[in-house]
Amino acid sequence: MVLACVGLVFFTLHLTEISIFCQKREKVTELTSATDTRNFLHLPDIDCHRTPPFLILLVTSAPGQLKARMAIRQTWGKHRLVAGNRIVTYFLLGITTKQSDLVDVIFESQKYRDIIQKDFMDSYYNLTLKTMMGIEWVHIFCSQSRFVMKTDTDMFVNIFYLSELLLRKNRSTRFFTGFLMMNERPIRDRGSKWYVSEAEYPASTYPPFCSGTGYVLSTDVVSQIYNISESVPFIKLEDVFIGLCLAKLKINPEELHSEQTFFLHKVGFSFCRFRKIVTSHQVEPYELLIFWDALEKSKDEKCPDV
Ligand SMILES: *[C@@H]1O[C@H](CO)[C@@H](O)[C@H](O)[C@H]1NC(C)=O
Ligand SMILES: *[C@@H]1O[C@H](CO)[C@@H](O)[C@H](O)[C@H]1NC(C)=O
Ligand SMILES: *[C@@H]1O[C@H](CO)[C@@H](O)[C@H](O)[C@H]1NC(C)=O
Repeated sequence: MVLACVGLVFFTLHLTEISIFCQKREKVTELTSATDTRNFLHLPDIDCHRTPPFLILLVTSAPGQLKARMAIRQTWGKHRLVAGNRIVTYFLLGITTKQSDLVDVIFESQKYRDIIQKDFMDSYYNLTLKTMMGIEWVHIFCSQSRFVMKTDTDMFVNIFYLSELLLRKNRSTRFFTGFLMMNERPIRDRGSKWYVSEAEYPASTYPPFCSGTGYVLSTDVVSQIYNISESVPFIKLEDVFIGLCLAKLKINPEELHSEQTFFLHKVGFSFCRFRKIVTSHQVEPYELLIFWDALEKSKDEKCPDV
């Protein structure tokens, strides 16, 4: 039956009804294959023992999103030192059935050395696997780092302000922050992108979690999540899954700052506004380039204190 199911998926990858039908059965194998340490297809070029980063940005991205990755590499994702603290950015990718995309990723990885990839299907409903691949990579290869941020390709991230706030906060363990989601309930409407069945998640509320658009954690928490993840029931919403792990670890997400700095929506651009935020959502690659340029050009200008 399992074999037949896998066979069907191979022949009819485009028929989502069938893959959904098979999904439950595959859940166990998916998790084990994603936690196998030896099957990374691509790894970034870093020796964390010698040069431990202060902050690692892990960006969930799909193979076809080269333009967005290029914009990030030229802006907030550019490797750099901020007040002596090393910041590095890596992209988390799965695989697709489009051969040309996969070949392009091979060249891209050779050129930029910033891709972390495993051989799971890159799809929205596999985001938990993708995030756990990033968690696994940090746990195995870069536990010397101090903080990790998980974010997306359509985000603006103010790494300068984020670093400043992290240093000011001066927390090194059991720290988790972002846009806090408290008392959220599973969406039971089948038409929704975030639909979760009672079978997948029976309880009526989620534990506290932070929006997957951008959350930051101290690296000790990464290893603890990695350690505990296999005993946490799988849910396809990656940010909720991380929340379930945190609940089990008894770690509460906290605010980074007294003012809001993480945004779920698109924040209207002005350089004064963008100096004092950490994330803004729904940013197109061309906008990112424009915003970054405007921020750099206005470096010496004063903003009113509010
Ligand atoms: C997730 O990845 C696995 C492994 O490649 C694949 O079999 C499965 O169909 C994917 N699930 C979805 C919903 O795309
Ligand atoms: C940061 O916290 C440590 C204790 O965890 C303390 O020794 C140190 O002085 C603090 N640094 C700053 C700049 O507040
Ligand atoms: C991993 O989890 C087990 C219990 O599930 C615990 O005993 C162990 O200390 C944990 N290790 C780390 C590094 O957190």
